[in-house]
Amino acid sequence: MSCPFTNAVNSLLFFVGGTLGALSTAKIINRKLLSNSGGNVTEFSCTGNPQVLVAGGAGYIASHTIVCLIAEGYDVTIVDNYVNSNAESINRVRQITGCERSRIRVYECDMCDPKALENVFRTSQQFFAVIQFAGLKAVGESVAKPLLYYENNLISTFNLLRMMEKYNAPNIVFSSSATVYGDAVVPITESSPTGNGITNPYGRTKYMIEEILKDWYKAQNASKSIVTLRYFNPVGSHPSGKIGEDPSGIPNNLMPFVSQVAVGRRPHVNVFGNDYPTPDGTGVRDYIHVMDLAEGHVAALKFIEKQWIQTKQESGQYSVFNLGTGSGVSVLEMIKAMEAASGKTLKTVMAPRREGDIATCYADPSKAKNELGWTASRNLQQMCTDLWKWQSDNPQGYTSA
Ligand code: UD1
Repeated sequence: MSCPFTNAVNSLLFFVGGTLGALSTAKIINRKLLSNSGGNVTEFSCTGNPQVLVAGGAGYIASHTIVCLIAEGYDVTIVDNYVNSNAESINRVRQITGCERSRIRVYECDMCDPKALENVFRTSQQFFAVIQFAGLKAVGESVAKPLLYYENNLISTFNLLRMMEKYNAPNIVFSSSATVYGDAVVPITESSPTGNGITNPYGRTKYMIEEILKDWYKAQNASKSIVTLRYFNPVGSHPSGKIGEDPSGIPNNLMPFVSQVAVGRRPHVNVFGNDYPTPDGTGVRDYIHVMDLAEGHVAALKFIEKQWIQTKQESGQYSVFNLGTGSGVSVLEMIKAMEAASGKTLKTVMAPRREGDIATCYADPSKAKNELGWTASRNLQQMCTDLWKWQSDNPQGYTSA
């Protein structure tokens, strides 16, 4: 059975073919890329599709990204230790895509174990690109356990980069966060200062990894492409409701908490502060549908691919993009939108400000529009409708499966 996404793959072939005519004759789902070893055409996987290593592939944003990668004719190898994710998400991704089993390979592996990670590279086809999603991400826990966060997030990334060097994986997309901007002036552009005013170790690991990637890029004589994606606030789920955000314990972020209140798992939403200098006094953020975010990763890979072909693999590029909508929405507006989507009245309780929070944060996403050809297209209503579909179909998350 072949993957039912041929239109999407055709458009990618058109994109690639437009840059390099010879490739446009490639068969559907037989996407060949030029190797970095002198211009010969090399297949990056036995299916002919470029192979992408998705580190932390069972997680929330990663699982949605994999759906888009499969639709766009990439094959995927997942590495995950399931410490904060559930293997059921991968089963659901297989259901959504309906693709051949061989197009999604899975390794249960702790990336902090260099031997285990090397086994993945040794037993796989050459990776065209790696997407680094793996890492611990709970802000409060990172304050309580800073060594765990620095150790886990940094060592797993070091091991990944070393394997990319050893096995000639040429490109990486790094999953970063708007948290690296601290309390920057809005709208935030990619040239806004980073590293100042980050309030927690989790955020600092994102900033540190960005700095490490810049140094690594220089040391590789710019031969590799690196794209850092700074996410704003991802919400929602795939419209099927089969995959979604499934935090363990009490959710830290607003919308998973709100959806658990809507489904009856929690009695009320605490609104952390109503005295901010914002129109209704509550915090303002740039919420982005997770499917838009997932599509941003595909746009980043196509951007790398284009560069790869145009320069005949002679030079890579270090690039940073904000992935956001460019609009700010308040906590109370989000709760209201979720009430409309779920048809429930949600009890709210005003609470003190949460330590480390800022009043307002939203992106200037124009660089991603101009250079990646990517914009967020889904609105607030769609974010909440899709979130509610996931939460109401899976009230206890993946554990209800
Ligand atoms: C938080 C993290 C950030 C991380 C991001 C991931 C902090 C300080 N920042 O960002 O590092 O990258 O999540 O998505 O934790 N709120 C409530 N009640 C709740 C939860 C949140 O009122 O129960 C409010 C917050 O005060 C804030 C807004 O909702 O104004 C959004 O909060 P949240 O979803 O946690 O995201 P960020 O704080 O933007």
